[in-house]
Amino acid sequence: MCWRKRIWRVPRTSGASSELFVLGCGPIVAHIDVVALAGDGIGPEVTEAVTRVLGGVASAYGHELTVRPHDVGWSAYERHGTPLPDTTLEACVRGPAVFLGAVGDPRADGLSPEKRPEAALLQLRRELGCFANLRPAKIDEQLVGISALKPEVAVGTDLVIVRELTGGIYYGTPRGAEAGSDRTVNTLVYTEFEVERIARIAFEMAGRRRGRLTSIDKANVLEVSQLWRAVVDRVAGDYPDVSVGHMFVDRAAMELITAPTQFDVVLTSNLFGDILSDEAGAICGSLGLLASASVGGEVGLYEPVHGSAPDIAGQGIANPIGGIRSAALMLSHSFDLQSEARALEDAVTTVLAGGLRTPDLAGPNDASVNTSAFTDAVVEAVALGGARVGAASAEVSP
Ligand code: IPM
Ligand code: MG
Repeated sequence: MCWRKRIWRVPRTSGASSELFVLGCGPIVAHIDVVALAGDGIGPEVTEAVTRVLGGVASAYGHELTVRPHDVGWSAYERHGTPLPDTTLEACVRGPAVFLGAVGDPRADGLSPEKRPEAALLQLRRELGCFANLRPAKIDEQLVGISALKPEVAVGTDLVIVRELTGGIYYGTPRGAEAGSDRTVNTLVYTEFEVERIARIAFEMAGRRRGRLTSIDKANVLEVSQLWRAVVDRVAGDYPDVSVGHMFVDRAAMELITAPTQFDVVLTSNLFGDILSDEAGAICGSLGLLASASVGGEVGLYEPVHGSAPDIAGQGIANPIGGIRSAALMLSHSFDLQSEARALEDAVTTVLAGGLRTPDLAGPNDASVNTSAFTDAVVEAVALGGARVGAASAEVSP
């Protein structure tokens, strides 16, 4: 637990409370201990930005930061012959939190499925038990102009996709090419248990937000979706304050671009969530903006939603916002550092309001800055916010 949060809990009139007495020996800092998997493409650039920003948070708030890099994806395959070396998996399982930049490289296209970079990510998600992937998509008011939608449609978009992450067609067996046949198979499978636990996460979240849940499926065709719908309806009975709607995924893809503000919490399966979250990125203006938190196990996994973007890798122009916002989710979910998480979110908003744009956010005639300059500005904004927090804490210190 962090020192400042304890100080804040002390009523101003209480004098020397026992809590402050315990603190007499010095500040108790949080230890932000992160396994960093930079991965492929723009992953290393984004991970470097996130590391620097976390450093800024740590020094502004007096926390300790440890970042432990490990290999994953194509870069791990090149070095170790496997996209998920044991050392990486062991470090991740020990946690307490994992940040992942991106995986994927066109050079892996010819590899067998288990050697592909994406296989590492899928195995990691499963080993960590991160069955709930939370993908917030809230349009920044400064970026309404670059939304793929007309401003009057895009303004006010503020939704969270709750994507089931460790089941469904991504993992179902049998899978692959059938020997001696021209058939290749993937299997869509969900158990009631899997649907119920992700549904509960979504209902809880809707209860803390605007109380609206839209469950997205393809129940007019798929039996698995019929099960999904029935379980969601049953779970809904435990959340009378949340209003529930069901929508077929094809309709949802259309409604998302015609009337995105109707959505609050969107609950859906692994594959549909993957597809719809890219659409949400386009509504917000760039996939580079979106963050994600994968939770449900003991260790949280935090990844920007954008992929490895090999076309711009190594140029230093990647948008670090998705990564930085994922780090904010990590501070909140894995370390319970709510003020710090908010400060990071606010720092990004401040920098956007100041007019800085990475190329993906800039119009054709607008100036843009590179990843490093954008990150510098976020670190500076965090430092200014931290200074204010420091001053406020000093006020209530003995
Ligand atoms: C995502 C990505 C991954 C997914 C890939 C890289 C395996 O697209 O996180 O959205 O499909 O889950
Ligand atoms: Mg995706």
